[in-house]
Amino acid sequence: MRFTWSNAYSTGVQTIDLQHQALMAIINDLHDCCARGAPPGELRPIMQRLAHYTVFHFRAEEALMGKAVLPIDWHTEHLAGHRAFTDAVQQYLDRSEDMTPEDAEKLQAYLVEWLKKHILEADKTLGKFLMQQALHSDAFDDRR
Ligand SMILES: [Fe+2]
Repeated sequence: MRFTWSNAYSTGVQTIDLQHQALMAIINDLHDCCARGAPPGELRPIMQRLAHYTVFHFRAEEALMGKAVLPIDWHTEHLAGHRAFTDAVQQYLDRSEDMTPEDAEKLQAYLVEWLKKHILEADKTLGKFLMQQALHSDAFDDRR
């Protein structure tokens, strides 16, 4: 399943949106690799890129969350979502060498679905909190 960006996925925070697009581009690379029937070994470097970028992106988003005032339960749940996704990506990376093409396709579909849902439900809400608290424009400015 390929992911196509639309405004519906915009959080209102440009840096986060660009990172989401970069994340989806890697997941689309996985899709293209599966679609042309590439051997599982070819998935590994893409999975590695995905694992690295996932860590980078969640760190950036969580740094931003740390600057905002957020409902504690919502914040905790958002972090738990990030951990679960990071763990899933890492587990798949660990078994990427002996994954069947069917497993790889299932994984790719799971990643797209998870990310779409997470952006629409959790990250768009984060965008609203950040905008309300005027933390969106220079979101990654350390002076704040
Ligand atoms: Fe998030």
